[in-house]
Amino acid sequence: MFSRFKKPESDPATTALRPVTSSGPTAPVGASVHKPVAVTTRPNPTAAIARTPAEAIASDKEKKKKEKMAELKVELHKRLLDNLNLSALEKATEASLKQEIASITAEALDEMSVALNAQDRQVLHQELYDEVMGLGPLEALLKDDTVNDILVNGPKRIFVERAGKLSLTDITFKDERHLLRIIDKIVSAVGRRVDESNPYCDARLADGSRFNCMVPPVAVDGSLVSIRKFKKEKLGIADLVRFGAFTEEMAAYLQAAVATRLNVIVSGGTGSGKTTTLNALSSFIDGSERILTIEDTAELQLQQIHVGRMESRPANVEGKGAVTQRDCLRNALRMRPDRIIVGETRGEEVIDMLQAMNTGHDGSMTTIHANSSRDAVSRLENMIAMSGIEMPIKAMRSQISSAVNLIVQASRLQDGSRRMVSITEVTGMEGEVISMQEIFRYERLGLEANGKIIGRFNATGIRSAYSERFKQWGYDLPSSIYEPIV
Ligand SMILES: Nc1ncnc2c1ncn2[C@@H]1O[C@H](COP(=O)(O)OP(=O)(O)OP(=O)(O)O)[C@@H](O)[C@H]1O
Ligand SMILES: [Mg+2]
Repeated sequence: MFSRFKKPESDPATTALRPVTSSGPTAPVGASVHKPVAVTTRPNPTAAIARTPAEAIASDKEKKKKEKMAELKVELHKRLLDNLNLSALEKATEASLKQEIASITAEALDEMSVALNAQDRQVLHQELYDEVMGLGPLEALLKDDTVNDILVNGPKRIFVERAGKLSLTDITFKDERHLLRIIDKIVSAVGRRVDESNPYCDARLADGSRFNCMVPPVAVDGSLVSIRKFKKEKLGIADLVRFGAFTEEMAAYLQAAVATRLNVIVSGGTGSGKTTTLNALSSFIDGSERILTIEDTAELQLQQIHVGRMESRPANVEGKGAVTQRDCLRNALRMRPDRIIVGETRGEEVIDMLQAMNTGHDGSMTTIHANSSRDAVSRLENMIAMSGIEMPIKAMRSQISSAVNLIVQASRLQDGSRRMVSITEVTGMEGEVISMQEIFRYERLGLEANGKIIGRFNATGIRSAYSERFKQWGYDLPSSIYEPIV
């Protein structure tokens, strides 16, 4: 056995039977591992509290079984790392590696006199495979298409977001060391490092998912990890209409706005669907235009052919080599873009973004973290002020009002649904105030017994200030779309 992936028989110590109290290393897979680590079987904080005696027995049994499986996994994982020729793994096919894992496991279980039924063995094999090749306990959640976000609060609490709602899973890491090893595996794959002196990091997983982590001691109760899963199939306009994010009338209006090159800001809270909306809106851009996208973590998936994608880069471990969104944006202006799309404007790049919008790159788009359209404008003002540019408030506002044409407000409502709660046009300045007019809004009408929000989209009755422009460009929207339902 171990034939193809087994290490040369040089170190007899590595093949000797080890006590169960040795476990996974903190080093990433690929490094040799020798540190024994004590197994701690802490009580699972997720255990239910109010139970009937029968339920309690069943759940205790289940818990004991889980603990035993966890210990077995630790020991088997250790043996795998000791015995597998890690450099050969890269070339190994999934099937052959799984076969090898199965035979190493069978031998070890035999040696330890542990009997497992076929189903448990299957689970164990998959988990070991995930440990060796993937991201351990996170792997199952990464494969689960219904999960949007994975949020880890220390080794024993992993939350997921499904359909806009957060829930605690029964998946756990063995301990903080295990969690740190997986974090290390992720960040070292992108040439970064996290430790006490550099306790947080942004990265992109191999599948494109957005990853952020913060490790102790800054993270007080164990490492914090947030993953925004990458969706291979991004939601398009039709999907968003089908899911009730906005109506067909609103979609027609947005199509006219994007096609006629209005500058659009998608505003919203965290996880409200800003990037998804921006991506969907981009589908209205004509295929002949040259589009440049700039993001901190490349999430956008534009369908057009003529797209140049840029991703900013943080400094390396020596503090050098940072390329900010602003650097990308300034460079983008020299790359003859028709439109520029910035994934999220959050800092000094705001100046260049507004200037680009004002100087020939109309039809540009970005997202911004804000709770209402008014808020979005205040955020823009704050960002300009924070970027160190001394500008009178009136000049600042006039810059904003001439750059931004439309603010689309996305929101995740308390029932988990994501909706475009407002579409607002920026129409100019009145004195020192930026004037805006809301065209569409979401009206909440009540609450169902199950907590679902009852509501509807409605027009405000105000006709778009751009209707003439839409008409000239061939988007003659019927005036009925601006008429409110009463
Ligand atoms: N209307 C929608 N219906 C269902 N799911 C949606 C909708 N809009 C977005 N989502 C899903 O919600 C998740 C979050 O969306 P998205 O990444 O667009 O949010 P965001 O506002 O950009 O978040 P962040 O602030 O973290 O950047 C994604 O998994 C996305 O697929
Ligand atoms: Mg986003």
